[in-house]
Amino acid sequence: MADLDDIRDGKEYGIGVEQKPDGFFLKGSNNLDWGMKDRLSRIFNPATGKTVMLAFDHGFIMGPTSGVERIDLSIVPLIEYADCLMCARGVLRTLVPPTSRKPICLRSDAGTSILTELNHNVVIDIQDAVKLNASAIAVMVSIGDPSTEAETVANLYGAVDAGQVAGIPVMGVTAVGKDMARDARYFGLASRICAENGANIVKTYYTEGFEKVVACCPVPIVIAGGKKLPELEALELAYMAIQSGAAGVDMGRNVFQSDKPQAMIQAVSAVVHKNMSPKDAFQMFNDL
Ligand code: 5RP
Repeated sequence: MADLDDIRDGKEYGIGVEQKPDGFFLKGSNNLDWGMKDRLSRIFNPATGKTVMLAFDHGFIMGPTSGVERIDLSIVPLIEYADCLMCARGVLRTLVPPTSRKPICLRSDAGTSILTELNHNVVIDIQDAVKLNASAIAVMVSIGDPSTEAETVANLYGAVDAGQVAGIPVMGVTAVGKDMARDARYFGLASRICAENGANIVKTYYTEGFEKVVACCPVPIVIAGGKKLPELEALELAYMAIQSGAAGVDMGRNVFQSDKPQAMIQAVSAVVHKNMSPKDAFQMFNDL
C-alpha cells in the first residue's frame, strides 16, 4: 500500500485546456474497447496507420511448401523487419522465439488441406489465443463456395463472439475458390460480408478497382501477396494497394520466396509506410 504520509492536494487541473478527443486512428475501430485498440495499435503503426504483416501460415494447409520448409532458417531472420507475424499455433510454439516482441495474428481455423476440399474448418478455442498473447486471430471465409460458405461465415461469427469476450480482434480472410471471379465486385462483396459479420480487419486480394473494395469496407483492409511475382511487380502490387486505400499487406511468398527476402521485406515496408514508389523501392531492394 502507498505510504499515507504527506498526501498532497492535487493542483495541476489544466483548467482551460481541453482533454484531447478520443478519436482512434483506424477506420471503423473507434467504438472498440481499450484492449482491442491496444492490440490493433500493435499490429498497425499508429504513426502511419499501416502494417506489414509477414504471413507464414501456409503450412497449415500446404505442408512444407517452398520457403517455409525451415521456419527457423527462412522466416526467423525476417521477423525483425515485420510489424506483425501471421502464423499457426504449432509453428508459433515450436519455432518463433517468444523474445521476438512482435504482435501475432494467429491463424485460428483449421480443418481440410489442399489434398481434399479446402475450408471445412473449425476454430480454435479462444483461450489458446489468449495464452499465446495473440494480438488478432485470423479466420478464413469462403464466400460463394456452396459447400463451405455457411460453415466459414459461422466460424467468423463465432470467432468474433469469442474475440469480443477476450478483447482480441478478428481478421476475416477471404478465400478465393477456383471458380470465383477475382474482381472488385467479388472482393468487395466478400470483404463487406466479413466486416458485416464483425471482422475488425479484412484480408483480401488486390484487383483493379480496389478503391471501391476499400471504400465500401468499414474496417481496415490488408492485401495478401499471392503467388510469387518478380520483385518489381510485387512492389507495384503493394504500392497500388496502398494508393487505393489499403492499410497494409499480409505478404508471404513474395517475401520468403524472394532470392533476397530480407531486402524484399524492407522494400515492401518502405512502400507501405513511406509511400516509396515501386521504382525506388526496387532500387532499394537491389542495393540492400
Ligand atoms: C491464406 C493466407 C496466407 O497467409 C496468404 O495467402 C498470404 O500469403 P501470400 O502472400 O503468400 O499469398 O492467409 O489464406
